[in-house]
Amino acid sequence: MKGNVIVGQSGGPTAAINSSLAGVFRTAVDRGANKVYGMRNGIQGLLEERYVDLSEHIRNELDEELLKRTPAAYLGSCRYKLPEIAEDPAVYEKVFKILEKLDIECFVYIGGNDSMDTIKKLSDYAVVKGYKIKFMGVPKTIDNDLALTDHTPGYGSAAKYIGTSTKEIIRDCNAIEYKNGMVTIIEIMGRNAGWLTGASVLAKGEDCEGPDMIYLPEITFDVEKFIAKVKDLLTKKSSVVVAVSEGIKVEGGRYVCELSTGIDYVDAFGHKQLSGTATYLANRLSGELGCKARAVEFSTLQRAASHLISRVDINEAYAAGGAAIKAADEGDTGDMVILDRVSDDPYQCTTGLRDVHKVSNVEKTVPREWINEEGDYVTQEFIDYVKPLIDGEVPPIMMDGVPRHLYHCDKW
Ligand code: F6P
Repeated sequence: MKGNVIVGQSGGPTAAINSSLAGVFRTAVDRGANKVYGMRNGIQGLLEERYVDLSEHIRNELDEELLKRTPAAYLGSCRYKLPEIAEDPAVYEKVFKILEKLDIECFVYIGGNDSMDTIKKLSDYAVVKGYKIKFMGVPKTIDNDLALTDHTPGYGSAAKYIGTSTKEIIRDCNAIEYKNGMVTIIEIMGRNAGWLTGASVLAKGEDCEGPDMIYLPEITFDVEKFIAKVKDLLTKKSSVVVAVSEGIKVEGGRYVCELSTGIDYVDAFGHKQLSGTATYLANRLSGELGCKARAVEFSTLQRAASHLISRVDINEAYAAGGAAIKAADEGDTGDMVILDRVSDDPYQCTTGLRDVHKVSNVEKTVPREWINEEGDYVTQEFIDYVKPLIDGEVPPIMMDGVPRHLYHCDKW
């Protein structure tokens, strides 16, 4: 590499996105990049000329190791939708002026569906205008809903947290026997894809029965049928634990969380904030069945749990970052790195490349045949798919009894 690299992070944070950043940084330096810049808050920050020279912040091996173990988005993230080129060419002119000023040879964006839309638009613009800059996407999302890749970095660590925490909740809920029984509803992220919610099945093993029911957004949810099912279960056991996706919808397409909360925040990509599903269902259950009912929202915890990251996930995230730089250095542009599962047992996975036009704005959901007939649990195929992704640990580097992170934002 002769020129400079710029890298940004975008979309919802994960526990593995910084490992991809570390992979981009290390590979770019090793391949001779002059400077590796980091955009502050993705493309939004770049448009305001907010960027940093990463070598001033990732100074040694300890910093690199800490970065891999630091959740969220080290550079800061954004949910910024680039306009269509014809709609606002001035935005593109501005971006490319900044990239030229910084002598950028390769632009890497680490993100999910919406971020791949950014790579698509920028690489299209570069081709039309004859710019030589390479644009590469590195997948990231706990939702695991990106097309053409077997799975996305960030998913495995979130799945590990969800399986573990669900197991701990089941253990806790079995401790006390309440008069009319106890129901715990666990609400899990993932929008319109049930990959994360399905991962609650990982609680199941020889020492744990697992959740009683698992409801994914791929299946229309029937509130009355659900209450009847819980009522029946409470005649057989004193504690019922149910995992629900934040994105479950009733017939007609309304989100369950919209039935009560009235939350109407919508981001730049038109995504509604989904929250309150578990609370709504818990209230309905305690009101109608007279049982104790508790709502647990994993919320931010499931994507920020750096103390419980999956080794497979962190290593793959790192490799994906490196693969983007290698591909750009070899002349690729307009592609996203994918993870290609070679075998399940032993689990083996390699990186590949796919045209970002075929990835952006396509949501990959859980196949119907990986959900049971009743629509309230996942099948063995789902378990076989997710299990290898949570394998192994990356122990945190502890300081004063809590995990240490790499953090310099106060100085930026
Ligand atoms: O895109 C990932 C995700 O974690 C979704 O699962 C969730 O709906 C969303 O982000 C929440 O985003 P925010 O933190 O911006 O509300």
